[in-house]
Amino acid sequence: AEMNRELKEKLFQLKKERNAIILAHYYQRDEIQEVADFRGDSFLLAQKAASTDAETIVFCGVHFMGESAKILAPNKTVLIPDERAGCPMADMVNVDGLRKLKAQHPNAKVVTYINSSAEIKAETDICCTSSNAVKVINSVDADEIIWVPDKNLGHYVQQHTDKKLIIWEGYCNTHDMLTVKDVVEMKASHPGAEFVVHPECRPEVVAMGDFVGSTTAILEYCKNSSAKEFIVGTEDGTGYQLRKDSPDKTFHFATKFLVCPNMKVNNLKKLVKCLETMQPQIYVPPAVADKARASLERMLQVK
Ligand code: 13P
Ligand code: SF4
Repeated sequence: AEMNRELKEKLFQLKKERNAIILAHYYQRDEIQEVADFRGDSFLLAQKAASTDAETIVFCGVHFMGESAKILAPNKTVLIPDERAGCPMADMVNVDGLRKLKAQHPNAKVVTYINSSAEIKAETDICCTSSNAVKVINSVDADEIIWVPDKNLGHYVQQHTDKKLIIWEGYCNTHDMLTVKDVVEMKASHPGAEFVVHPECRPEVVAMGDFVGSTTAILEYCKNSSAKEFIVGTEDGTGYQLRKDSPDKTFHFATKFLVCPNMKVNNLKKLVKCLETMQPQIYVPPAVADKARASLERMLQVK
């Protein structure tokens, strides 16, 4: 506790010196969410990065999120506490594969989940996050959509649009691990609880949800629901905000495996250190960034 207090004081000082803001995804460790200027889902954090006046953005999340911030705010310094915080799903699609698919479907538009590399975004018509995927797809002027990289979110979106999705086979290791059996067992132990689930989970698990939505949508739903007990089908870090919003409610994570190890690579100590050394910085080659920016900016403009 004493060490954390010292670290926090140092952080406060450094933040002023560097004119920095700290953005933290809801899947980050509690000790990081506690000191963040903004906590949010992928969408809110991208918006914040695009609109901030600060000179330095510390992105506490995974690498693709830092890249998106750098693409949207190319003149700012974007730091990440540990650059090894990657996203295996983002790495499941490569440029060659996507180009081949585009050649096979020349009339299709490419809609890319923000969980992807800058190079993939540079090959994309428009990006989306889990909170606006259906709205983005329906805004696109094409009947056929190439969808990368999350097959589970793709399947969910397909049920909510008339457009035809050509779905890439990627997935999130963490959310995809949750099974129907896990949820059945949890429901049996907590019969009064509502099951809330992220669309990165498998279709058959998503189908069991009393509520399906992005991280922010789940948080909003639990805050406003009259239920007192919830089974949560998304990453464990959301417990920080869920409990803060509703101290009188009970949250059971659907399994103890709903932990994204990549998100947890960042910690408070590394956060302070990155502001001290101004390293590691996110770098995106300008030619790639310029092409990727259009797809992110289009997303931010969808009403
Ligand atoms: P959201 O923040 O859009 O809910 O995305 C979840 C996720 O897996 C981020 O890596
Ligand atoms: Fe990637 Fe899943 Fe971790 Fe999000 S939770 S960063 S999608 S592995």
